[in-house]
Amino acid sequence: AQTVGRNADGVLTVGQITATRLADEFGTPAYILDEADFRARARAWRTAFGADADVFYAGKAFLSRAVVRWLHEEGLNLDVCSGGELATALSAGMPAERIAFHGNNKSVQEITRAIEAGVGRIVLDSFQEIVRVAHIAQSLGKRQKVQIRITVGVEAHTHEFIATAHEDQKFGIPLAGGQAAEAVRRALQLDGLELTGIHSHIGSQIFDMSGFEVAAHRVVGLLKDIRDEHGVELPEIDLGGGLGIAYTSDDDPREPHEIAKALSEIVSRECDAARLRTPRISVEPGRAIVGPTAFTLYEVGTVKPLDGLRTYVSVDGGMSDNIRTALYDAEYSVALVSRTSDAEPMLARVVGKHCESGDIVVKDAFLPADLAPGDLIAVPATGAYCRSMASNYNHVLRPPVVAVRDGEARVIVRRETEEDLLRLDVG
Ligand code: LLP
Repeated sequence: AQTVGRNADGVLTVGQITATRLADEFGTPAYILDEADFRARARAWRTAFGADADVFYAGKAFLSRAVVRWLHEEGLNLDVCSGGELATALSAGMPAERIAFHGNNKSVQEITRAIEAGVGRIVLDSFQEIVRVAHIAQSLGKRQKVQIRITVGVEAHTHEFIATAHEDQKFGIPLAGGQAAEAVRRALQLDGLELTGIHSHIGSQIFDMSGFEVAAHRVVGLLKDIRDEHGVELPEIDLGGGLGIAYTSDDDPREPHEIAKALSEIVSRECDAARLRTPRISVEPGRAIVGPTAFTLYEVGTVKPLDGLRTYVSVDGGMSDNIRTALYDAEYSVALVSRTSDAEPMLARVVGKHCESGDIVVKDAFLPADLAPGDLIAVPATGAYCRSMASNYNHVLRPPVVAVRDGEARVIVRRETEEDLLRLDVG
C-alpha cells in the first residue's frame, strides 16, 4: 500500500498508525486496508479509461458497504455475481444502473430482484439464461439491457496464454461452432432483452496483454458478423478483469493507463479494420484495485525449528482468512512489523492454526532467527480474494477489515464473534 512505512523504532506504519497500535486496538488477525490507496487505485483506473469507457469494480475480490460508497464517490461502476453482492451494493446506495450482474447460474429470484432494482446490465451466460432473463423481464413489463458472455478460445494463465480451439469450462458461450452467433440471434429476437454488447473475461492474474489482444480480435470479429447478418452494430464490448498485481517482487504489473491505452488501441485498430464504429469499452478489475491495498496482520504464536528443514511459524489465523496459498499455490511475502531485528534470516514457513497440514499462509519466506511468540508479522497484498473467500473452518472466527486513512482507523467489517457463529446453529 502507498502510505506504508516504518517509524523511528522500526515499527510498520500505515496511514501514520503503527501496526502495534492496530493490533492493540483491533486484535489479530486483521486485514488492514489503506483507504487512500484504494481510492487512488480506483481513481487511476477511472481516469485512465476516461469518459468513453466504464470501469466496473469486480465485487467478488472484496465487497463491503464502505467499499461500495468509495467506488460510488470515485465514479466507478460495480460488477456483482450473486444476490448477496447485489444486496450489499444496493444497500450502500450504488445506483442500480451502474451495476452489472454476472454469474453462470443466477437464480430466478436473483434475476427478478436485479431487473426490479433496475440494474444497468445483466451478463448472459447460457442459452437457458437468455430465455429466462427475457421471460422475467417481459413478465415485469421491462426491457433489460444485456450482454452475452462468450468464450473466445483464449485461456489465460499467470504469465502466458494458450489459444485453444475448444474451451472446456463452465463460463460463457463458445465462439467456436457458431454458438455465440446463435446466442446473439436468439437474444435479438426476444422482446424482453436489449442486447447492448459482447463480454469476454479471459482469466486472472495476467501480465501479458497478448491474451487480451486475441480476445479483442475475436470479439470484434463477432461484432462484424452481427453487423453483416443483422444490420446492427452493438454499442458495447466488455473485456473483463484479470490484470495481475505484485504478490512478490518477481511480479511486474502494468499501470492502469498502460492497460487502458493498450486495450483501446487494440479495439480501435480491430474495429477500423472491420469498418465498425468503435464500441464503448468496459473492464472489470477486482484484484488490481483492492489486492495491493491491504495486508493481513498476524501475531506469532509458536516458532518451531525443524533441524535441517525449516522453521514453522504459527500465526493466529491461516487458511480460513487466506485460502489462496492452499488452493492455488499462491505466493506471498511476509515481514516482521512490530520491531526490527539484526538477527540472521532463517528459512521459515508461515502456517495457520487449522487442523490441516496444507494450512500454509506463506510457503517459503525468510524471517529473522530471533522471531518469537508475540511478534507481529504482516502479509502484504491480501486485499483481494482473502476476506471474500474466508471461511469458518474449525469454527475459527473471520477477522475484521480495518480501514486506515489520515491517521484514523475504523472497522468496516467487524470481527466475527462466537455469537455470530452460534446464531445459525439451530437446535
Ligand atoms: N470479471 C469477471 C467476469 C470475472 O469472472 C472476474 C473474476 C473478474 C472480472 C475480476 O477478476 P480480477 O481482476 O479480480 O482478476 N479467487 C481467485 C480469482 C477468481 C476470479 C474469478 N473471476 C483468486 O483468488 O485468485
